[in-house]
Amino acid sequence: MAGNAERVKLKIDGVKKIYNGRTGKVIALNGVNLDIHENEFVCVVGPSGCGKSTLLNIIAGLDTPTEGAAYIDGKRITTTGVERGVVFQQYALFPWMTVLKNVMFGPRLQGKSPEEAKEIAMKYIKVVQLEEFVNHYPKELSGGMKQRVAIARAYAVNPEVLLMDEPFGALDAQTRTQLQQELLNTWEKERKTCFFITHDVDEAIILAQRVVIMSARPGRVKDIVEIDIPYPRTQETKMSERFIELKNKIWSEVYQEYLEVRK
Ligand SMILES: Nc1ncnc2c1ncn2[C@@H]1O[C@H](COP(=O)(O)OP(=O)(O)OP(=O)(O)O)[C@@H](O)[C@H]1O
Ligand SMILES: [Mg+2]
Repeated sequence: MAGNAERVKLKIDGVKKIYNGRTGKVIALNGVNLDIHENEFVCVVGPSGCGKSTLLNIIAGLDTPTEGAAYIDGKRITTTGVERGVVFQQYALFPWMTVLKNVMFGPRLQGKSPEEAKEIAMKYIKVVQLEEFVNHYPKELSGGMKQRVAIARAYAVNPEVLLMDEPFGALDAQTRTQLQQELLNTWEKERKTCFFITHDVDEAIILAQRVVIMSARPGRVKDIVEIDIPYPRTQETKMSERFIELKNKIWSEVYQEYLEVRK
């Protein structure tokens, strides 16, 4: 585990969320408790509709819990903040801005000069291998490329925490694998606290130090599985005996929850 393993960066304390939808009340989350440590990579898996995005939005400060609270460095989260970078389930890029301008946007907001912002943007555009496309607009990019821009944009504000909501969900297997590896390499270097939602158990295991399994709605933490596979990890890691053991364990727990949803 990372150096500051014991320092709690994000705390989710008794979070309950009820939505008053058009067709009545929906209990999205019901008593979620979770501590995420500084420098830790945590993945969250669970069936569709169990409240994963709701939880991420609460941590991002985009939504408020009905009961309980989320904390960053011991401070109650009530609004968004530059120390939390978000990559959404659907790429949220500014369509009227080029790749470069999209990635420069955050640093500019933070008061960086155009030259400095450009330098930072170019650094992360290189990380996601889009140097050739800096002057393209989002509509001229493939899904995988757009998601790369979204990741570069999140990195460019140098957040302390990355919140990622199924960032690779819409991509083909090959692009997905490639972006997983890029993310792994970057995390191994920078060790930013990462809260990453996915419905792909393989993806969760290859990336995370701990995998949080959520129950069917109303979402709660059903189990937390420590991924005791050392880094650096590569795609070959997916073939190791330990990986397959963990995959079977997590998958069977998640599958029980899928069955709950179908009832
Ligand atoms: N703004 C809203 N108003 C009413 N209900 C909502 C709202 N947002 C989410 N919900 C409901 O809350 C529940 C949890 O939704 P959420 O998007 O958090 O699930 P999820 O686990 O992210 O699902 P998926 O895996 O499909 O992305 C769902 O039943 C959803 O319909
Ligand atoms: Mg979601």
